[in-house]
Amino acid sequence: MIEEKFQNAVEIITKNDRGGYTVPTSKLYPHQWNWDSAFTALGISTYNKTRAWQELILLIKAQWKNGMIPHIIFHKNDPNYFPGPNHWQIKSNANTSCHSQPPVLASIIWDMVKNGNNYDLKKGQSLFNSLMAYHEWFFSARDPNNEGFISIIHPWESGRDNCPDWDLGLHNVNVPDNFGDYVRCDTSHVEISQRPTNKDYDKFMSIVEYGRNCNWDPKKMYDEGPFLAIDPGINFIFLKANKDLLSLAKLFNYKNRVNKIESWINKLEDGCQNFWNDKVKAFTAFDMRSNQFCDAITNASMLCLYASTGSDKQKNYTIKHCERILNSCVYGMPSVDPKHKKFESERYWRGPVWSIMNYMISHGLEHEGEYSLAKRIKDDTIKLIEVGGMYEYFNPHTGKGLGGHDFSWTAAILLVFGRDSSNLKFTTNK
Ligand code: DGY
Repeated sequence: MIEEKFQNAVEIITKNDRGGYTVPTSKLYPHQWNWDSAFTALGISTYNKTRAWQELILLIKAQWKNGMIPHIIFHKNDPNYFPGPNHWQIKSNANTSCHSQPPVLASIIWDMVKNGNNYDLKKGQSLFNSLMAYHEWFFSARDPNNEGFISIIHPWESGRDNCPDWDLGLHNVNVPDNFGDYVRCDTSHVEISQRPTNKDYDKFMSIVEYGRNCNWDPKKMYDEGPFLAIDPGINFIFLKANKDLLSLAKLFNYKNRVNKIESWINKLEDGCQNFWNDKVKAFTAFDMRSNQFCDAITNASMLCLYASTGSDKQKNYTIKHCERILNSCVYGMPSVDPKHKKFESERYWRGPVWSIMNYMISHGLEHEGEYSLAKRIKDDTIKLIEVGGMYEYFNPHTGKGLGGHDFSWTAAILLVFGRDSSNLKFTTNK
């Protein structure tokens, strides 16, 4: 049964292959997405290393001169997706979006090198400078005041687009008069009840319009843009990515860079304390424009364990939240605490379970020695795929598959769990 699922996972990823890059799913997301591609490459690396590195090389090829690796790369025009290339940039030859996404790349590359051979080492080494430039960009563009935490300029940059974390900030985003003469494509592929609302989209597109008008100038976006928030997810993923970049630098014996990355890590470890929300005893999002904490405990709050950061007390509180939230649903880890008033079991990042988040949280729990909680999350992920199908996200109460079907990163995470577990052996024909 499980062997069939692994085979099916490989078939789905192969079906979503567009020649050098893999779309998350056909129709709904017909381009190359940054963190989707990274997780998918990790899945592919379990059966075809050459193709896995090709995925990452093509992603990194889209890196901007300033170091930024964009969240979407438009290799082709596709009328099925909105907002396409023309909405992002004034330049007519634009082929990427203009902000980034959670920087899991260094962690994925470290995993592929660590679990690989000399071939993987060489490939990883050839991408090292691009990773350095990418991380430098995050510090300069998203922490220009050197405070030790990065802030996102658009909810899409968090990858958790419509999480309640951004409600405070989006509330204050001004939607220009007569705005709204655009047509969303996502809702012709997926029921609107599982997607962000039209009101969310007006706000998302207003921020894109602001960005386009200022040529996405990072300083202007940070100082004056309509939206600025601290995302615990991106901060913890970035901290973990820096720790994994450090492992790569040590392996390659890059002494100067080791010192530099160590200083980045120290800065970020201190910076995380800025978004410990003592009221709810968790790391939560913080809206920089209104200077207010968001009070939702989300699956991103749990990623402090993945980054292995915070005091023992903070980690213990987080583990208790994990336990409590897992006990309140059939399948964990929901994207928002089901007790929170804004929880919605089927709406995108406002409640559903996501396999990639489960992968990172289970790693963090294992690192803390919380093996049974980690196992529960891995088992739930596999059960969800069995019950709901290879979907984008899942209802934490019923297991129903939601959003895009035949989803690349869900397939990839299943393969990675298979690789990492001695009980889950499988073979492929590659
Ligand atoms: C979408 O189109 O919904 C994406 O999440 C934005 O990157």
